[in-house]
Amino acid sequence: MSDQTAIESVLTEERVFPPPPEFAANAHIKSFEEYEKLYAEAADDPAGFWAKQAEALHWFKKWDTVLKWKEPFAEWFVGGKLNISYNCLDRHLTTSRKNKAAIIWEGETGEIKTITYLQLHQEVSRFANVLKSLGVKTGDRVALYMPLVPALAVAMLACARIGATHTVIFGGFSADAIRDRVNDCQCKVIVTADGGYRRGSEIRLKDVVDEAVEHCPDVTDVVVYQRTGSQIKMRPGRDHWWHELTKTVDADCPAEELDSEHPLYILYTSGTTGKPKGILHTTGGYLTQTVYTSKVIFDLKDEDIYWCTADIGWVTGHSYVVYGPLANGATVFMYEGAPNHPAPDRFWDIIERHKITIFYTAPTAIRAFIKWGEQHPLKHDLTSLRLLGTVGEPINPEAWMWYHQIIGKGNCPIVDTWWQTETGSAMISPLPGATPTVPGTATRPLPGIVVDVVTKSGKPVGPGEGGYLVIKHPWPSMLRTLWGDDERYKQAYWSEIPGMYFAGDGARRDKHGYFWIMGRVDDVINVSGHRLGTAEIESALVSHEAVAEAAVVGRPDELKGQAIAAFVTLEGGRTGNDELKDALRTHVAHEIGALAKPDDIRFTDALPKTRSGKIMRRLLRELASGGHVAGDVTTLEDLSVLEKLREDEE
Ligand code: WTA
Repeated sequence: MSDQTAIESVLTEERVFPPPPEFAANAHIKSFEEYEKLYAEAADDPAGFWAKQAEALHWFKKWDTVLKWKEPFAEWFVGGKLNISYNCLDRHLTTSRKNKAAIIWEGETGEIKTITYLQLHQEVSRFANVLKSLGVKTGDRVALYMPLVPALAVAMLACARIGATHTVIFGGFSADAIRDRVNDCQCKVIVTADGGYRRGSEIRLKDVVDEAVEHCPDVTDVVVYQRTGSQIKMRPGRDHWWHELTKTVDADCPAEELDSEHPLYILYTSGTTGKPKGILHTTGGYLTQTVYTSKVIFDLKDEDIYWCTADIGWVTGHSYVVYGPLANGATVFMYEGAPNHPAPDRFWDIIERHKITIFYTAPTAIRAFIKWGEQHPLKHDLTSLRLLGTVGEPINPEAWMWYHQIIGKGNCPIVDTWWQTETGSAMISPLPGATPTVPGTATRPLPGIVVDVVTKSGKPVGPGEGGYLVIKHPWPSMLRTLWGDDERYKQAYWSEIPGMYFAGDGARRDKHGYFWIMGRVDDVINVSGHRLGTAEIESALVSHEAVAEAAVVGRPDELKGQAIAAFVTLEGGRTGNDELKDALRTHVAHEIGALAKPDDIRFTDALPKTRSGKIMRRLLRELASGGHVAGDVTTLEDLSVLEKLREDEE
């Protein structure tokens, strides 16, 4: 890499990057002093601060109380009535945004579609009427299992319009994963597509839904959006084509006036047990914080072409592809496919052709770009870019510097945004016109957000010391509970550290008050920015007839951040070989999805356990990382197990 020396020399400098003065001059928040003032005001009166931000939305009826807090249950803007689809669409129609592009979409196969706010409003209204015609009512659940096409955003906004709660299931999940999610929240309708394109191949989504729906007793109808045109099975009475149903309904569908706490969506995410958690987000608070953070973090302006590369199946796609940007009246760019199809310069080619101004992606993608080589971005004119962002995992300073120099040409601020499915919107992030950035840190919490790094007993740690990342005051877009399981909600987030929300991440705060996120401290692994519970993968492995017991841990991986390492003991008489490894990988892909396939599988006679029978994951993590096992092993039930694993390692 020819620029390597330049990067290294910068690395040895004091790596603080103040916002470029021209950027700051035009930004929504223009200086660090302004940020600090806002932060202090909000800290004095968080409810007052958020009420001010909520004024940016359209309310059918104003709230009576900003916040009702009965730890750990929050209600925001109580008594208020609004509709998110109205906020994302209708209110722009009386402004100059009416004929502005809301969505510009590019398929992997090259076609481009532009949808104005007026057109999007019409499509959403029609599809809302389709849902109604299938008997979907306010409060019902609808599952969406689709490729990255504008129709997915249409379906989400249509649900929001009539008050149906959507659950988007990432297109990489298997039939079993769909079944579990759909049944957990009793969806009535599934919206899917015949397929989508990824790296030149068709992903046949409807086939997967067909397999799942056999075991989903509550599902009465399946709506199929035609994306690829390939042959699929349609069961009469149950399955309907999107384009046929939309022809039969009215184009007018008034937005329901919904309570501020009306459930907007459930998004399943991995936790520390085998069963995914249904994170519940509601309406008024969620939209308030996504709108505010989209505006101040991405510094959204009417002229921007904003591209967040996340799949809509993850929370980033919900908050920062669909709801936040559209409610701000932004032009959102969407791309269906893979970053290296047909060639590794696809993203840079897109940025050049569409004149993207704001680009938000994951560190794992940046590490892949680095590996593919800087010749790909260097071939393209990227001068339209003015702001870059990252999300999903800690960004290593080397990747940050490459992003800054090769993509941003040293001119674009980088916003490293820390947040979670549970937080709903960004919590810790630089403000691009205000916060001096340092590679590798998400910097400071946003105004209205109170975070800290503490010990297990909740005592703040000193500067530079590691501890648990916690949130100390309720925030508007926080999860309200886990769907149907208040007890698990309390247990998972509010029991570890008394009186605080525990995020599951380790962190330290430096002497400038900047937060450095150190990664998960629970049994969750972050593979390419996607959360996977070790217990989930373990139970998938154990469900294979050859497997007696399994332990799954993360190990560092240069590209993916973390890779999945599985230690497996077999049923009596079975021997481990490469064929069985392949079979186990395929089995996990079938149970959960290809994203959960273990990278390494190691067969062992027994797993190291404490006397109380707990698997000693720390030891396995060290083994999986190729390191030596250090520290206290006196609680090991059978030291010879460790010896055996070590021998196998050598
Ligand atoms: C990690 C994604 C470091 C973290 C929005 C968190 C990050 C988990 C960052 C949530 C960041 C997210 N720096 N780590 N900027 N952003 N994480 O629910 O471990 O898919 O707990 O939400 O990703 O992942 P989730």
